[in-house]
Amino acid sequence: MASTTSETVYNCCVIGTGKEGSAITRKLTEHGCKVCTAHSKSAEGTEHAAKHTGATPVSFDDPQCKEADIIFLTIPEKAVSELPKGLLQRSPSDVIVVDCCNYFPSRDGHIDEIDRGMPESIWVKNQIGRPVIKAFNAVLAGVLENGGRPKGSDSRIAIPISGDDAVAKEKIAKLISGMGFDPFDAGDLENSWRLQPGSPIYCTNLTTKQMEKAIRRANKEAMPTLRDQAYEKMCNADTKMDSQSLVQMLRETFADASKQISLEELIGTSQQQEIKTS
Ligand SMILES: NC(=O)c1ccc[n+]([C@@H]2O[C@H](COP(=O)([O-])OP(=O)(O)OC[C@H]3O[C@@H](n4cnc5c(N)ncnc54)[C@H](OP(=O)(O)O)[C@@H]3O)[C@@H](O)[C@H]2O)c1
Repeated sequence: MASTTSETVYNCCVIGTGKEGSAITRKLTEHGCKVCTAHSKSAEGTEHAAKHTGATPVSFDDPQCKEADIIFLTIPEKAVSELPKGLLQRSPSDVIVVDCCNYFPSRDGHIDEIDRGMPESIWVKNQIGRPVIKAFNAVLAGVLENGGRPKGSDSRIAIPISGDDAVAKEKIAKLISGMGFDPFDAGDLENSWRLQPGSPIYCTNLTTKQMEKAIRRANKEAMPTLRDQAYEKMCNADTKMDSQSLVQMLRETFADASKQISLEELIGTSQQQEIKTS
């Protein structure tokens, strides 16, 4: 699925080796990027993940990590504040840091500033002391790995990007397109709350056209409750939910159950559609 040009091939470092980190690492490797995967906790975990994704396992002190063009954060939100102090300030000033994290207080514990309304990525930016681009947080790992489509295809899923640096956003947009998805410019970081869990565009596999409408209907006040409801449904499911049932549950929770947008409006009547994940 990757469509690669030398213009979009980068040295990347992925911090976090779980589902999201592994999916991003695989896609970047497939795309032709040189990827290292770094982990603050256990070298064994990093080595295991690297073996399955084609990345090189490194420590945070490794030059490959320090000199990466793009660093992806794929760890639980709260863990961002537990990264080694000054870690991301050692990188060159033009490195792009992509925040792929999400805040689920039931999973991560509470973060007061976010609970009081600070957009998650602004909190991340403050923690690491440098600007971030928010991207890849609103697409499930399984969809990222298997849901890419050629450019121009009707069912091509859009991936939203927020940030204040137009050049950095453009680079991430090209990467996303090369991975088989439509990049969707969701505005600046102050508005990145529209990409957070609870929003109708959060992991609901929308096309660009659908996303244009749905993003305007995100309701900041309603979102934390909807986020918590979705997390509870996921935890209480009888069997582990696959990407398809997760997308369906998120669509129903963030659309139908809310005052934001109806499910019909979200995906269209003709598209009580199969959910494209493979
Ligand atoms: N899964 C998805 O579909 C998806 C999609 C979009 C965004 N995200 C977001 O991506 C992030 C990771 O999700 P995930 O599903 O990949 O979770 P996961 O499978 O549980 O993996 C979490 C990763 O973070 C590491 N980690 C945990 N605490 C850490 C700490 N204090 N310092 C450094 N590393 C730490 C874990 O290391 P250990 O294994 O050693 O604990 C693991 O490598 C979350 O914020 C999530 O919301 C996930």
